[in-house]
Amino acid sequence: MTTQSKTWHVAFIGAGGIVRHAHIPNFQRLPNVEAVAICDVNEARAKEVAQATGITKVYTDHKQMLADVKPEIVVVATPNVFHKAQTLDALNAGAHVLCEKPLALSYPDAEAMMATAKQNGKTLTVGTHYRWSDAMQIAKAHVDGGFFGEIYAARAFWQRRSGIPGYGSWFTNKDLAGGGVLFDLGVHNLDRALYLMNYPQPVTVTGATFGKLGAQGQGLGGWGSDILKPGANVRFDVDDLAWAFIRFANGAVLQFEVAWAAHGPDQFDTELLGTKGGAHVGNLDKIELYTTLNGQKVDVKNDLPKTQTNSYQRLVENFVRHLDGDTSAEIVTPEQALVSAKIVDAIQRSAQTQREVVLA
Ligand SMILES: NC(=O)c1ccc[n+]([C@@H]2O[C@H](COP(=O)([O-])OP(=O)(O)OC[C@H]3O[C@@H](n4cnc5c(N)ncnc54)[C@H](O)[C@@H]3O)[C@@H](O)[C@H]2O)c1
Repeated sequence: MTTQSKTWHVAFIGAGGIVRHAHIPNFQRLPNVEAVAICDVNEARAKEVAQATGITKVYTDHKQMLADVKPEIVVVATPNVFHKAQTLDALNAGAHVLCEKPLALSYPDAEAMMATAKQNGKTLTVGTHYRWSDAMQIAKAHVDGGFFGEIYAARAFWQRRSGIPGYGSWFTNKDLAGGGVLFDLGVHNLDRALYLMNYPQPVTVTGATFGKLGAQGQGLGGWGSDILKPGANVRFDVDDLAWAFIRFANGAVLQFEVAWAAHGPDQFDTELLGTKGGAHVGNLDKIELYTTLNGQKVDVKNDLPKTQTNSYQRLVENFVRHLDGDTSAEIVTPEQALVSAKIVDAIQRSAQTQREVVLA
C-alpha cells in the first residue's frame, strides 16, 4: 500500500555501463522520479551520458554534487573500492542509497555502511537484481506455497566459458575491484540461492578461488567501459573462479560455483532440493519442478509469462515504492545484504587460509 507519493530527485555516482543501460532508464521510467545529476571522474563520459539522457547537472567530484544538488536518492555505481566511502558520503548527506554490488569489500565495511544508514534513518540497498526475474519470482512463490517442503540442499552455479569483464580495466585490478568473479557474478549467484532458501544464517564456509585463465589472457568478455585489448598493459590479479560449500544454522547446505571463464560449458542455474519437491531455476526462461505424486515421479516444466519487465526494472521500482512507504515493496534488506557479505568475506578468508571458516 503506497502511503506517500512525492517526486524523488536521484543522482548517480559513476557514468559507466550499468548506470547508462540500467539505472538511468529504469529510474526515468517512474513518474515520481527525476534524474537530476551525474558524476564521473571521466568528465567527457559523464557529459555524454547526461546529454543522452537529459540530465542537466554534471560533476567530476561526488562530494561537490552531493553538496550542490542535495539528492534524495543516490546510486553508487563506481569501481568496487569506492562503494564504501561514496555510500557513506551520500548517506551522511541525507540520501537514500542504492549501492551497486558488491556492497563492500569486507563484512566489517558492509556492517559500518548499514550502521550509518540506520543512524541517518535512510535506506541502503544493493543492486542484486536477479531475484526479480520471472523465473525467480515464480520459484519463490513455489517456496512460499510449500511446494518444496523443507529445502535442505541447494546448488548455485553460474559459469561462463569466456566472460571476464573489463579485461585490464578496474574489473581485473585487485586494488580497484577488491576481487573478481566472486564479487561480480558471485554476489548475484548467492542472493538467488539465499532468497529461495529464505536467507538462513550461515555457520561454516569452505571456499577456494583461482585466477588461472585470466592470468593467461584467456576467457575474455565484453562488459565494462575501459577495456584494454589483450596484450596491452594488462593487470589481472583477481579470481576468475570461486567455489564454496556453506552450512547453515537450520542444517541446510549450499554448494556454490561461479566462473568468469572455465574450460567447460556456459551454465546458469539454481538447484533446490526439498523434502517434497525440487527445482532447477534458470534465468529468464527456465524453471523445472520435480516431485512425487501418488508414488510416481513427476517432472513439470513451469511455463513462464512473456513479460517485458526485466529484473533491474523491478529492483528500481520496488526501491522507490519502498521509499514511498509501500510496505508490500520488496528490497534487498540490510539483514540479507549483511548475510551475503558475511559469506563472501568468509569465502575469501577460507580461500586464503585453505581452511574452513566458522562464523559466530
Ligand atoms: N547489478 C549488476 O548486474 C551490475 C552489472 C554491471 C556492473 N555492476 C556494478 O556497477 C559498478 C560499476 O560497473 P560498470 O560496469 O558500470 O563499470 P564501468 O567501468 O562501465 O563504469 C565505472 C565508471 O566509474 C567511473 N569512476 C571511477 N572512479 C570514480 C570515482 N571515484 N568517482 C566517480 N566515478 C568514478 C569510471 O570513470 C567509469 O565511468 C561496479 O561495482 C559493478 O560491480 C553491477
